[in-house]
Amino acid sequence: MKGSFPIEKFNTVRTPFYYYDTELLRKTLDTIKAETGKNDNYHVHYAVKANANRKLLRIISAAGFGADCVSGGEIKACLDAGFPAEKIVFAGVGKSDWEINVGLDAGIAYFNVESIPELEVINQLAGEKDKIARVSFRINPDVGAHTHANITTGLAENKFGIAMADMEKVIEIAASLKHVEFVGLHFHIGSQIRQMEVFENFCLKVNTIKQWFADQGIEIQYLNLGGGLGVDYDHPDAEPIPDFASYFDTIHRTLRPDPHQQILFELGRSLVAQCGELITRVLYTKKNALGRDVALVDAGMTDLIRPALYQAHHTIECLTSQGTECSYMIGGPVCESSDIFDQAAMLPQLKRGDLLTIRTAGAYGSAMASRYNLRDLPRSIYSDEL
Ligand code: LLP
Repeated sequence: MKGSFPIEKFNTVRTPFYYYDTELLRKTLDTIKAETGKNDNYHVHYAVKANANRKLLRIISAAGFGADCVSGGEIKACLDAGFPAEKIVFAGVGKSDWEINVGLDAGIAYFNVESIPELEVINQLAGEKDKIARVSFRINPDVGAHTHANITTGLAENKFGIAMADMEKVIEIAASLKHVEFVGLHFHIGSQIRQMEVFENFCLKVNTIKQWFADQGIEIQYLNLGGGLGVDYDHPDAEPIPDFASYFDTIHRTLRPDPHQQILFELGRSLVAQCGELITRVLYTKKNALGRDVALVDAGMTDLIRPALYQAHHTIECLTSQGTECSYMIGGPVCESSDIFDQAAMLPQLKRGDLLTIRTAGAYGSAMASRYNLRDLPRSIYSDEL
């Protein structure tokens, strides 16, 4: 088990709550900086959707990272957390007018545009403010991510991006609009990608697309490769910091940017997943009608929806009991059969009051929490405040 948990402190906080190891987050950020520092043109923008917790945002902005936002709310949270506007990029397949205006008013770096109608709306809103909006085109590269279907985004069948087949028309329209300036290309093929060959194939495709633009005589300042690097949910202690060296090395070996081009990355999960855990308490143990051992805990799918939504596996450990392990179904209190964290978690004999940790929950955990069943949103506590 990673580090030693402050159980006495945990006993004073009402469960469930997220526990963030801010030291691990800082080490993770340092590792990324060491890797990207090898190439002046590499810049990481944190994908805020993974976790918009204010304290984490502050740590990430203080470390010098940019931000990849997908809503007006995220842009505001990032400005509030100290990200400079010129390091904020606004992506998202359906931007509302007010959200575009938030970006324009703040003077963010640029917008990642996903369709011609969106480009026209940005042009119109920028015109009303007598501004010029910098835009990148999000291209659907039609590359498989070989990850869960719900988190694959770069296939032709997905709703994201602009098809290369439409690109000539997009360029022609962009050139005719007075309040947008084309600055780059944006891609994102999916999330939780652990096979480096996937990124390799993706970079080869980006090289081809980039060449197509060069052949048209179109200048590209920014190549934004999106996010996607996965983490080890099964063995969080084996890899508390994801393998950024292999990731950036794969990109470095395969991508062929021009010397002046800036390469942007929008990593979310890999920055924050391992530093967060969901701490929950066993409420009741029982056997179900088939005689299976069930432990009902006070955290539910409203606190961490990933297992219910994607059948995602999170390692569960007991912090307060030891001994011979047996198989438990770990269920939450929500009135849904899918409110199950694990069908067969191997844990010591559990009793009411035992504390469990659900590991690798820092990304897409609290960010996706809801108040379904009128449950409270989970609180957060931090290793450096205990
Ligand atoms: N850029 C874009 C355009 C994205 O859509 C995403 C994630 C990212 C960057 C960050 O990707 P990451 O580095 O975190 O893989 N809720 C799901 C994940 C959804 C990811 C959505 N887009 C989950 O819990 O697995």
